[in-house]
Amino acid sequence: MKIRLPGIFKRRKRREDDDPRVRVTRDISPSDFVLVNDQSYIYREKVLPQASTVEFWEGSGLVNFLANSPFLKSEILDVGCGSGEIDIILAGKGFTVTGIDISPYAINMAQALAEKYPHCRDRVRFVAGDMESISFERRFSSAIISHTFEHVINPDRVMENVIRFLEPGSHILVAVPNKKAWRDRTHLRYYTERSMKKFLSRYSDSPIVDVDNHERMIFASAKTRS
Ligand SMILES: C[S@@+](CC[C@H](N)C(=O)[O-])C[C@H]1O[C@@H](n2cnc3c(N)ncnc32)[C@H](O)[C@@H]1O
Repeated sequence: MKIRLPGIFKRRKRREDDDPRVRVTRDISPSDFVLVNDQSYIYREKVLPQASTVEFWEGSGLVNFLANSPFLKSEILDVGCGSGEIDIILAGKGFTVTGIDISPYAINMAQALAEKYPHCRDRVRFVAGDMESISFERRFSSAIISHTFEHVINPDRVMENVIRFLEPGSHILVAVPNKKAWRDRTHLRYYTERSMKKFLSRYSDSPIVDVDNHERMIFASAKTRS
């Protein structure tokens, strides 16, 4: 007997089937990891092209959390900056931002997008690299790690390397999906309010962790130890 699926399930299945990306596992090779992150942006341009625009992100809950945080200070390091829309918005608000991402494809998109915003172009810089191992010749006064911890191979290595390049006592602002709010074959782990607090407590004495049920996100701020 053929079972008829309601439309919503059919649509979800078709979308999964269309997704050309391999499922990421922690033992993926470094070159495949870069490739799959490149593919994420190629895929997103196909299925959600509006997400590669500044207008899509402006006024979003994520941008409001970052831009209104009393802890966000220029110079910002944005870890896993992707295609740069959020950094361009922050630069438009007067912040200076260095975005780093492991996907050269995303960094090319970010650089091309910044060219369209001459009034803030001088306040954003985009670098392709792996935050687990990259070195900077300078320090930053705050960091953003937005929708990235669920993707990285080793969150502790990322955190340790970010802190190396922050002024002591700087804040790190974090956003992740709440639990399994978004399922994605490139997610390696999911966070709850409790697990995020536990993770950040390894690096910060009193991290602030909030669940935003409307946005289906966990927002956190962690002051690094001096
Ligand atoms: C979902 S995107 C987040 C983009 C953006 N921050 C946002 O909030 O929309 C996650 C990003 O993390 C990047 N990424 C994953 N591992 C990384 C690493 N080790 N170093 C730097 N970037 C990494 C991916 O290439 C991807 O662009």
